[in-house]
Order: sequence, then C-alpha cells, then structure tokens
Amino acid sequence: MSKPIEQIAALTIGTVESVSPSEIKVLLEPNAPQATALNTGVPTGFPRINGYVLIPNETGAVVGLVVWLGVERSQFPKRTGLKDFGLVDLPFPLRKISLTPLGTLLATKRAGGGENAYRLERGVSAFPSVGDAAQLPTAEQLRSIIEASSKEDRRVKIGTSPLAANATVTVDPDKIFGRHLAVLGNTGSGKSCTVAGLIRWSLEKARKERARLLKEALETAQELGDTERENEAAEKHRGPPNARFIILDPNGEYSSAFADCPGVRRFTIPPAKGGTKDFCLPAWMWNSHEWCAFTQAKSGVQRPVLMRALRELRTVSPRTGIDRIVVLTALLRSYHRSLVNDRNKGAIAFIDKPGKNDFGQKLHAIARSLMQYADEDDLSKFKDILSYTGNALKRIADDRHKTFTNEAGEMIEYYQAFDSSEVENAVAALDKCIESIPDVDQHLGINEDSPIPFAPSNFAELIEQIAAEQGQSQYVDTLVLRVKMLLSDMRLMPVLTPTPDISLEEWLNQFIGSGNSGTFGIIDLSLISSDVLHLVIAVVARIVFEATQRYRKLNDQELPTVLVLEEAHTFVRRGSDEESDTPTPSHMCRQTFERIAREGRKFGLGLVLSSQRPSELSPTVLAQCNTFILHRIVNDRDQELVSKLVPDNLGGLLKELPSLPSRQAILLGWAATVPTLVEITELPEDHRPRSSDPKFWDVWTGEEDRPINWREIVENWTGTQNKPTRPSGPSEEENAT
Ligand SMILES: Nc1ncnc2c1ncn2[C@@H]1O[C@H](COP(=O)(O)OP(=O)(O)O)[C@@H](O)[C@H]1O
Ligand SMILES: [Mg+2]
Repeated sequence: MSKPIEQIAALTIGTVESVSPSEIKVLLEPNAPQATALNTGVPTGFPRINGYVLIPNETGAVVGLVVWLGVERSQFPKRTGLKDFGLVDLPFPLRKISLTPLGTLLATKRAGGGENAYRLERGVSAFPSVGDAAQLPTAEQLRSIIEASSKEDRRVKIGTSPLAANATVTVDPDKIFGRHLAVLGNTGSGKSCTVAGLIRWSLEKARKERARLLKEALETAQELGDTERENEAAEKHRGPPNARFIILDPNGEYSSAFADCPGVRRFTIPPAKGGTKDFCLPAWMWNSHEWCAFTQAKSGVQRPVLMRALRELRTVSPRTGIDRIVVLTALLRSYHRSLVNDRNKGAIAFIDKPGKNDFGQKLHAIARSLMQYADEDDLSKFKDILSYTGNALKRIADDRHKTFTNEAGEMIEYYQAFDSSEVENAVAALDKCIESIPDVDQHLGINEDSPIPFAPSNFAELIEQIAAEQGQSQYVDTLVLRVKMLLSDMRLMPVLTPTPDISLEEWLNQFIGSGNSGTFGIIDLSLISSDVLHLVIAVVARIVFEATQRYRKLNDQELPTVLVLEEAHTFVRRGSDEESDTPTPSHMCRQTFERIAREGRKFGLGLVLSSQRPSELSPTVLAQCNTFILHRIVNDRDQELVSKLVPDNLGGLLKELPSLPSRQAILLGWAATVPTLVEITELPEDHRPRSSDPKFWDVWTGEEDRPINWREIVENWTGTQNKPTRPSGPSEEENAT
C-alpha cells in the first residue's frame, strides 16, 4: 500500500502551462501515459478527447475536459534537474493538452472517517495557476464527476460513460422533459433509438417505482391494520404510470417499437390494422388560422368570409348547455341574410311565380318563429323586440297573402307580388331586431376558433353564400375549391369527418389521457399526404398545448405531458419572421411549435424534438431547448450551429461530433451537470424504431422477397378499392386460369 502522497505523484501527468477562463493548457510529463492509463485503478483511455483531468487546488480540484491534444516542438527536452547547456539538443516533441474547465470536484469526508467522497459543483471558483500539477482522476473521482449526486438525478439510467470508467449516466425526467429536449444527429446516428429508449426506460423506471411505493404503503397500512389506508395506497399507486407521451411520428417508425408496452395506444390513418386504432382529427377542431393556412385564404376578401363562415357554423351547431340567445342571434342573422339575398336577386323574383310565394312563406315562417321565441322564458329579455319584429314581418306578409277558390272548390293560398319597399322594410325590421339583441356569441367566448363541432358538409356552400351576399363571389373560387377538395379527399375523410363524430372530450381522453391515468399515444402519420401533414401536426400540437394550458388554468397545477416530434426540421423549419400575407401550413406548424417551446413549460408540456438538420430548425425553438443529446453530426453548417448552442468555452467539446460512433452521444445542458459522452444503453432489436436501411443487395440476390402488385397500390392511391365501378383488367378468375 503506497502512501497518499505517492498515489498523488503516480497520478500526476503534467503541469499547467497557461490559464485563461476558457482554456487551460497542460504540458504533459514525458512519462505520462500514451494511450491507456493504468494508474487510476481501472484502465482509462488517456490522453483522449473528452476525457477528464483534475487540477487540485485549495478548494478541491478543478475538473477539466480534454478538448485538444497535440505535440509542439521545443528547443530543449523537458528534463528534471539542472539543464546541461553544454549538450546540443535536438528539437524535442512536447505533448500538450488543452482543457476546458467544467467545474470543481469537492472532497467531502465520509461520515465515520474512511475514504473521501466527492461531489461535483458547477463553476470554477478558484482557477489553477501556472505550474500547478495536473492529475488523472481515480475511478471513484470519475464516477463522482459523471454519476449524479442527487437522488432525483439518478432516476433513469440512459447509458454509461466510456471515458469515465463506464460510470452510469442517469437523467432526471423532470429536467430532461420539463425544459424541452433536442436530439440531434445525422440519419442513422441513433436519434430515434435514443428517443425510444429514453421513453421506454423512463416508463419502466416509473412502473418499478410505483410498484415499490405501493408495496411500501401496503406494508405500513397492514402493520397498522388500517384497511382504509390500504385502499388509499392501492388507489394511488396501482396501475401503469400516469405518464402522457404523444409521439408524432411522420415516418411510422415507433409503432412497432412499443408494441409490447402495456397501455400504449397506437393510432394510424384508418383503416387501422394490427392492434392500432383509427386516428382522427375532425375538421371542426381546426381553428380559423389553420383553415386560413390550409386554404391559403387571401387577407382581402377570402379570409373575412372564411372567418365569418366558421363563426356561423360554430354558433348554429346544435349543442347542449349553450345559451339559447347565441343560437337566436345566429338564426336571425341567417334569416336576414336570406332576405337580403332575395332582395338582391331583384324585384322580378317577387312578382313572378313562384318567387313571391316562396318569399311570402319565408316571411310568415320567420314571423312565426320570432313570436315563438318571444314566448320563451330564457329569451324573456328580448320579448318586446322579438314580438314587435315578428308582427311587423307578419303584417307585410299578411298584406299580400290571398286566397281564392278554384273551379274544383278547393281553397288556394297564394301571395301577390311584393314590391321592393316591402322587401326593404322586412329586411330593415330584422336588421333592427339583430341590433337590439347583443352580439352574445362573443360575450360567451364563442368565436371562429372555438372547437365546437359543426358538420363540414355545407361549409363550402356557406362560404359561397356569404360571399354572394357581399357581392364578392368572384373572389372566393379558389377558397371554395380548396375546402371542397379537402373535405372530399377519400383518404382524409375518415380522419377529418370520422363516423361517428367524436366529441372534443372523447378526443382528449383518447389522445391525452382520462381520469387518473395518462396515455402513451403514438400517432403514425406516414400515410397522410404531405400537403396536410404539416397542418395535422400543427393542429394536434396546438390542441394538446391548449388543453394543458386550460388544465393549468382550472386546476392550478400543470399536467405533465410530453410531445415528441420526429423529423423536426421539416415541421419546425427556420423561416423569415415577418408575417407573410397568406400563412402556409408550414408557417402554422412552426408558429405552433415556437409557442409551445416558449410557453409549454409553464403548463407542463415538454417537447422532445429529433432532427438531422439542426441548421434548418427554427432558432426560436432550438434556443428554448435546455437539454441536448448530440449524436454524430458531420455536416459543417449543422456543427457550427450546434456549437453555438453551448457556452463558448465548451465549443471544443463538440469537436468530437463528426466522429461519434452510433449509440454514442454527448449529453449536455440542463439535465446534465457536466457535458458527458454517453454510450446509450443498447435497445434490443424489437424495441428499436423500425428505420432499417433498404436492403438492395438482399433483394437483388433474392434473399428477400419483394412481390409487386401495383394494382392494389393504384386502387388504394385513387381510393377506388371498394368501388367496383368499372371492370379494370382481367378478373381474378381469369388470372387464375
Ligand atoms: N441505443 C441503441 N441500441 C441499439 N441499437 C442502436 C441504438 N442506437 C442506434 N442503434 C443502431 O443504429 C441504427 C440507426 O439508429 P436510428 O435511431 O434509427 O437513427 P436515426 O434516427 O438517427 O436515423 C439502428 O437501426 C440501430 O441498429
Ligand atoms: Mg430516425
């Protein structure tokens, strides 16, 4: 057993040569290890990029991360003792390393004497001085650098650190999901596996913890013989974790990876198969911005018309618990519109048959229903104006209402032609009535954005109607066309207009969770056509965001929820900040995610973004991510961007990014005390997201079968599979012969 001082001497590898706040240069001893250090207790790679070196001082030891190593020529060899200037020295190679100071390792006495324990603190309070000795950390010191000291930080293991004696790397879900996580790296570098692993391991650990808490609580309750407490404990901890993960999966990779997880809900575009459920996102859930973005409504005429149409659809839709007045105002407005419409068609319609009869009947019908409303209790405030208007309309209609008896002795009712002043009067009376009934829909918080169901089938017609009434029909053609096209798309129909329609409550239950339990939902969007994909993602994200926002408002507590977005660079694309005149779906998508990135944390909504092109991601979103897991990144621009995400003095740390092997990644940010190179725990084959590279060779050589049936694909494509309208090609029987 060597003395402590000897141990320290054995670990010394060099002396500090220069110090700046961001860089410490160390000149290595000639006898410092070349490739593997054996003097630390376990074999450690040294000197290695991203390895750790300690520089002890009076407060503890400054922890430095190796960011550069190299050889510099010197006139003289570094020798101990006096230099003999009589010797002719050849230029001599000096090994140097450059360190980035990461923090301070403090030694704390273990209770009851014995060996030292260590604790890492962020920040450096006392910088080393020139001439200080640099040491290799011992295995225990290394572990204290990497392994989390607090219980919370040790919650979920994600891997080990190959450069730190294979210390366990753990994260705290509160930290990693609470302040947004970005997983960045090239294709095939392991992002999806990391995301899948992180979720799986977190849930597994939570399940174990639940079981442990349950057991503990039951034991205490049984000891006390307290059955009530026993039931309470069972109620509280039994069952799967109350975790909410929503994976937006545009490549359809994750569905199979979590097939074995209890309680996972996998959604796909209908028809669902193999244990998956139908994904739906009714068209009425879209808000007006989303409709505008999708239809590319121009701000001049189209957008106001679209907004108004949405508002009217939402206000007249039958629903419960909404004040009758809302329905009434909407009804009045639609009466008014139809009268104005009739008037605009010109007097001719009122003189000629059958126009005058229709108009007369309409007036009578409106008058009748106004009188009816006047008698209703909940509308008693408006009794006078309603009955006044009803009477006025009735009088106009009565004046022209005639009967005669024909030859057969039948009584025939008809209306005489109305003149235009009568029509004007009717319109004006109704107008006045609308004016005196307050525009209550706004007071009740119902507007064009409220997620109130409506039947989208007559959306296009309503837009046409409103435009016609304003004499602007010619401007809304494209708008109407887009709406019609969207709503008649065979493939989208079951998503946008599911049968039976789903209520908002059911939707939230299904996709976010119900009662006391969460939902782990994977939404496979691989079959959604690209033009609506952005919008679907934007709408789902927004609804989840608004739901958590409202939850917080009503319950005063946040609802921890994680939204995972794969291929984030396509959906949260960097773009110009100025509002363009017509927002596009990708605009919409970016805005939604930027909003979640900025505000989500307050409501417990965490984002996990995975992307292979960080340089194309919205800077706002990236800037809000507090934890990063960086896999291999080769591209210049992406590297440059990533290095900007970390503090200046850590830039060097990322120099290893282009050469990281798969499964290795650098964990840095809020969830990691110090930036750490992690070898992510291996996921078994069937737990990995399915994203294997195409197998050209095996298909070429016949190892794998790939039969082609374009007909099936074409039928599916054109939405004609269940419609045997025309015989196409030879029938099945003919094929068989
Ligand atoms: N943690 C891991 N466990 C097992 N295999 C992994 C792991 N990480 C990466 N891999 C391997 O790397 C391949 C690519 O990983 P993947 O996550 O699909 O990359 P990316 O999403 O970045 O394109 C996987 O098919 C798998 O073989
Ligand atoms: Mg992937």
